Amino acid sequence: MSDPIALSRQATAAIAKAQRVEELEAITVDYLGRKSGQISLLLAGIGKLEPAERAALGQAANEAKRAIEAALAERRAQLETSRIADLAETEAIDITFPGPPLARGHVHVLTQVRRQIETVLESLGYQVELGPEVETEWYNFEALNIPAEHPARENWDSFYFNPQLLLRAHTSPVQIRAMQRIKEPPIYIITPGRCYRRDAPEATRLPYFSQVEGLAVDEGLTVGDMKGTLLFMIQSLYGKDRQVRVRPSYFPFTEPSFEFDVSCGICGGMGCKSCRHKGWLEVGGCGMVHPQVLRNGGIDPQRWNGYAWGFGIERMAMLKHDVDDIRLFYESDLRFLGQF
Ligand code: PHE
Repeated sequence: MSDPIALSRQATAAIAKAQRVEELEAITVDYLGRKSGQISLLLAGIGKLEPAERAALGQAANEAKRAIEAALAERRAQLETSRIADLAETEAIDITFPGPPLARGHVHVLTQVRRQIETVLESLGYQVELGPEVETEWYNFEALNIPAEHPARENWDSFYFNPQLLLRAHTSPVQIRAMQRIKEPPIYIITPGRCYRRDAPEATRLPYFSQVEGLAVDEGLTVGDMKGTLLFMIQSLYGKDRQVRVRPSYFPFTEPSFEFDVSCGICGGMGCKSCRHKGWLEVGGCGMVHPQVLRNGGIDPQRWNGYAWGFGIERMAMLKHDVDDIRLFYESDLRFLGQF
């Protein structure tokens, strides 16, 4: 019968001499291997001994096992350290060295702002309604009361695939699609999405951008309802000190039509450089849905009326975060995006 103390000495001496991890693995098998490792055999044989001998030998064998395991772990660490030190000496690039951990990304600032807008309006009962970015000429123009020869078409010059098919120039076509789909008012929807216009990229505009359209169709809606909704949205996003105003404007699909402005957050409406001394910043267009547009959506304007608005998400994000160049949102420069 082997002596555990002798076995342990033998093993630790071999471990100390080992130069490679593979040798350590062989030693592990030799002494601790489950079937034929010498220590394992020894422990297995204990059952046949006199009870008096059993305890002493069992303890010694277990101690030997622990000593061998500790020696193995220590030598393994030593070998690894010296392997890395060797590599540092001999190789310019250590291809086995783990790279820096990948940084964790986060949601793009425009997506954050879009989701905030959605959350605020959903809290008022509006539902998100999506429409196609490739749109027919009818939905993009005709149904919105902009006939072929109408000069207002120039405001929404877009990219055409053919005379009937284009990249939508605004989210307003989804007004029509929503009315056609839902059919029975009340309708309260918002439609966030990408739009395209034939504009050269500048600090304030891009040929691609995003809008959020809002549409309410119900009985007896007023400009006051619309303005209150816009005020609630703006104050929820920018704070209670912001004000909203509407100014008369023109859109073929609303009557009356307005531009809506938000009071400047920097000067509080007093006038400063960033609002060009107006005290107000233009955010989007809005108005009461034109009866012909309701009809085009299959809704009876005798019974129902509605309001709608449309504004740019980039513009909302610029106002929120004091960004002065819209192009920054799309340049994918992490130094910019990492700030939000
Ligand atoms: N579609 C208009 C635009 O893109 C905005 C708008 C939407 C105006 C709804 C009034 C009502 O300029």
